[in-house]
Amino acid sequence: MIQVKIFYANNDLRNFSYLIIDKKTGHSWVIDPFDEKPIVDYIKKESLMLTGILNTHQHWDHIRGNSALQSTFNCPILTRQDNQILLDNHQLIKFVDTPGHTSDHIAFYWQKGQDVLGLFSGDTLFNSGVGNCRGGGSVPTLFETTNRLKKLPDSVILYPGHDYVLKNLLFAKSCEPENKEIDEALKMVHDTDTEQGLAWTLGQEKKVNPFFRLNSSEIQEKVLDGELLLDSRASIERDLFTKLRSLRDNW
Ligand SMILES: [Fe+2]
Repeated sequence: MIQVKIFYANNDLRNFSYLIIDKKTGHSWVIDPFDEKPIVDYIKKESLMLTGILNTHQHWDHIRGNSALQSTFNCPILTRQDNQILLDNHQLIKFVDTPGHTSDHIAFYWQKGQDVLGLFSGDTLFNSGVGNCRGGGSVPTLFETTNRLKKLPDSVILYPGHDYVLKNLLFAKSCEPENKEIDEALKMVHDTDTEQGLAWTLGQEKKVNPFFRLNSSEIQEKVLDGELLLDSRASIERDLFTKLRSLRDNW
């Protein structure tokens, strides 16, 4: 059995780190460790082995705990070239390129055979939002990556690198005031302990995430203000994504 343990840093950046645990073997892998202390304590309490460290990208808040964990458990930091980790019961963690937030950003698919069960998205995709591109990224590249992730099955659970959901939902509501799913999502967030994570699926994201809803006529009209609606659909969606990203940067 594979278990995902969530660590919420409760800092200004609201980082999430994740521990993937193979219960059968006792091996575990950490993704984007921020604060090493609770991770070390948990691994010791549960008598686990830390077998590898995974980072979605090199921004300091995603690698902050690397060296302390590496020296405590004498384990390697894995890279994109490692490609995948094999787990119990035909499950695996697959490394995938997701450029945009940074040029070499990667994400991790949790798969059973060919079926994707979970997405550890780092700063590519958040609940009801996407990452910014201000620290060396590219908005057109993030648009292509987001479109690719949108094609994953609706059942895939999203494990993002930060908890930005409240602000993201309020921004989403400003772009799409008639969308009642956003009101429901805000209630869900209010009733959920951030430490537990939301475990929303990509199906849920398609209901509330404006960057996944580029074909919404309400968002198109409100955000593009009718100016580009005669263009081709692909062009409208690219322009809308760019405008949404820019609006969210200053929101
Ligand atoms: Fe980042």
